[in-house]
Amino acid sequence: MTEAVLVTGAGGVGKTTVSAAIGVSLARAGLRTLVLTVDPARRLASALGLGDELGSEPFPHPDEPNLWAAMLDSTQSWRSVAIRHADPDVAARLVNNEFFLAASQHFPASQSYAAADQAATFVEAGAWDVVVVDTPPSAGGIDFFTAPADMADLVGGRLLRWLTGGPLPGRRFFYRTAAKPVLRIADSVLGSNLLERVAEFLLDLRTTYDGVADRGRQIEALLSRAKTLVVTTADPAPITEAARFYRDLPEVGSVPAAVIFNRSLPQEWIGFEPPDDTDTKLVENLARWASESLRQSDARAEFGAVHKAVVATIPWVAEPPTDLDGLAGLLAETEELTARSLKLEPKRKMGA
Ligand SMILES: Nc1ncnc2c1ncn2[C@@H]1O[C@H](COP(=O)(O)OP(=O)(O)O)[C@@H](O)[C@H]1O
Ligand SMILES: [Mg+2]
Repeated sequence: MTEAVLVTGAGGVGKTTVSAAIGVSLARAGLRTLVLTVDPARRLASALGLGDELGSEPFPHPDEPNLWAAMLDSTQSWRSVAIRHADPDVAARLVNNEFFLAASQHFPASQSYAAADQAATFVEAGAWDVVVVDTPPSAGGIDFFTAPADMADLVGGRLLRWLTGGPLPGRRFFYRTAAKPVLRIADSVLGSNLLERVAEFLLDLRTTYDGVADRGRQIEALLSRAKTLVVTTADPAPITEAARFYRDLPEVGSVPAAVIFNRSLPQEWIGFEPPDDTDTKLVENLARWASESLRQSDARAEFGAVHKAVVATIPWVAEPPTDLDGLAGLLAETEELTARSLKLEPKRKMGA
């Protein structure tokens, strides 16, 4: 069975970098690994072998035999929901409907849904030992996990109530009662068949509900089986966000496997005594870094104790990694994130 590793956390803490690093190190440990990345910096994308053609199809790395990478596309999310779950002619009508476009701007939940759906598809394909998923930035982080249920709820009711202020009206309602006179006025005023377009949108969208709900349950099952890694830095805002994952994830059937404190300063800096003849400015500076390193170390210890979390650290490096060795090197000292610690192993070949 293909395992999934989900890398979550606040924006800017290093999720994309860490996902890539984990991907490289798992590939080098002999696991066939697919990294699904979101919006990587250009040089990081090229380190993953993605070059200029950032595509949503897994691309084998030219220099790393067990590594594949692909982009998670979270931009055309509502579009992809329509295309997947509606009949082709209905989908074509939906994606050109102005209310569909408005809804997609008001309800970005579909971005997480579409990303989770794509990730699930690659896990189900069974072609890899492990799929590492860099989760897209989102309103609350947790919505990657709640997206399948949220999406079904949206299509099944919330969105319709938002548009209509009431229960879903039938086509007959639109054409027989309210619609006709208003339609005529709307048409003459706006020069378009406005209400007809709303009704069409709602009814077309409704046809996707069963598909979205069924698929949502499959995705949820998969997300709850995945190993979730929560990335943070030792700063208050991302730590608060990381704590939310520890609090909320169990409610959606998942428990984080580890919290990763990225950009950690070396422990050895705590209490470092510079030689006597060191320049005063430099001494002051070293003292500042020592106290920052102590603060970070305390923050990690506290998080681990409060949340009973496995705590992993990744060092702060002067030059962010932009090649395979740099990425692998980032995890060189991080015992908690090895294939063995994560309990990931190559699948046995069929018939072997
Ligand atoms: N351990 C690290 N040391 C130094 N810089 C890092 C480290 N991890 C990430 N970075 C840098 O931090 C920035 C944000 O990282 P990124 O992976 O894009 O974060 P996210 O995906 O969470 O938004 C990037 O410029 C990246 O190169
Ligand atoms: Mg990112």
